[in-house]
Amino acid sequence: MFDLLIKGGTLPDGTCADIGIMGDRITAIGRLPNAAAQILDATGDLVSPPFVDPHFHMDATLSYGTPRLNASGTLIEGITLWGELRDIASIDDMVARALEYCDWAVSMGLLAIRTHVDTTPDHLRGVEAMLEVKRLTAPYLDLQLVAFPQDGFYRTKTGRENLIRALDMGVDVVGGIPHFERTMADGAASVAELAQIAADRGLMLDLHCDETDDPLSRHVEVLANAVQRLGLGGRAAGSHLTSMHSMDNYYVSKLLPLIAESGMTAIANPLINITLQGRHDSYPKRRGLTRVKEMQAHGITVGWGQDCVLDPWYSLGTADMLDVAFMGLHVAQMTAPQDMARCFDMVTTQNAKIMNLSDYGLHVGAVASLVVLDAGGPVEALRLRPDRLAVVSKGKVVASRQRNDARLALAGRPASVRRRHATGLI
Ligand code: FE2
Repeated sequence: MFDLLIKGGTLPDGTCADIGIMGDRITAIGRLPNAAAQILDATGDLVSPPFVDPHFHMDATLSYGTPRLNASGTLIEGITLWGELRDIASIDDMVARALEYCDWAVSMGLLAIRTHVDTTPDHLRGVEAMLEVKRLTAPYLDLQLVAFPQDGFYRTKTGRENLIRALDMGVDVVGGIPHFERTMADGAASVAELAQIAADRGLMLDLHCDETDDPLSRHVEVLANAVQRLGLGGRAAGSHLTSMHSMDNYYVSKLLPLIAESGMTAIANPLINITLQGRHDSYPKRRGLTRVKEMQAHGITVGWGQDCVLDPWYSLGTADMLDVAFMGLHVAQMTAPQDMARCFDMVTTQNAKIMNLSDYGLHVGAVASLVVLDAGGPVEALRLRPDRLAVVSKGKVVASRQRNDARLALAGRPASVRRRHATGLI
């Protein structure tokens, strides 16, 4: 007798299985008897581990147009605009916006988010607000907070001190922005000190690193070296890494093995990188996405992050990680069947690995969190970005939606665009 039984779904690897849940754990997978307090029929639907977003800015989300629009659409104007907003936004404002976003996320099956929290202002209201959001959403959402010195760790007078204060308040991960420091030397020094702080405190490390088109912005090299020296491995991540798009190929041939040996992970943010990078170019115009396939070929774990939704940097977004993977697939030209499947894996399993989530996945003993999608498999899910029919978090159904079975009145046929690949590819 299970508390909850997910019946007849198709798992991402193509196998069909029932999933039995007791309390907050998956206790059985396979062909299971219909003995449960609650049964969800997922016959023909994709049942996936929940979506995971390893890079977001929840203190700024859903603030689009406040106090004004980003007229140029650039990264720099976005930072200036955020600098105005963060000093007028109250804790209540930020909590309300973040909680609304969390509702969107849950409805999309997105159940774990790593969010960077700006530690620049001395009032640290954003940190207080995000700690409150983490507490309120803990029953159904895994939220990791990164202490993020948006205006620089050394570049501002209290950048270093405020980051330490945020960590003391309970923020989980050490952040940084080396390419935004005043000099390359300061950037490199900030990477070294931030990595040391993470090592000393036993915390994870995730730096905004080389989010620029400058091919000589090489802080990722310093980061990988520090991660290797301090033994941080997969507890460290480099976010954005867009300068790698523009780097000299010979240099990259030396860099990729170093990143791989360090064990650090990488996060690309395709929706944002495609819109913010290359703004100084005429034509040819660089698109700024880091070298995703090349890193994966070296065994480096790479994830897709959302970064922004309706904020000073990005005027769109829906909290749907399938939108993120869909854009990443196109920009990174990951159109081979195995690459498309990997794009789905990146917004689920690979992102969970980057966030060091424990007991994640669809296996006996895992936390009972999953999403039922109106699609036959991962590639079809990417093509359709379909309805999330049910979302289960820690053993409880937290969102559900009726299947769209609209029919063409004239022919009586299903009006859905859902069609399986004739090759059996899902
Ligand atoms: Fe970011």
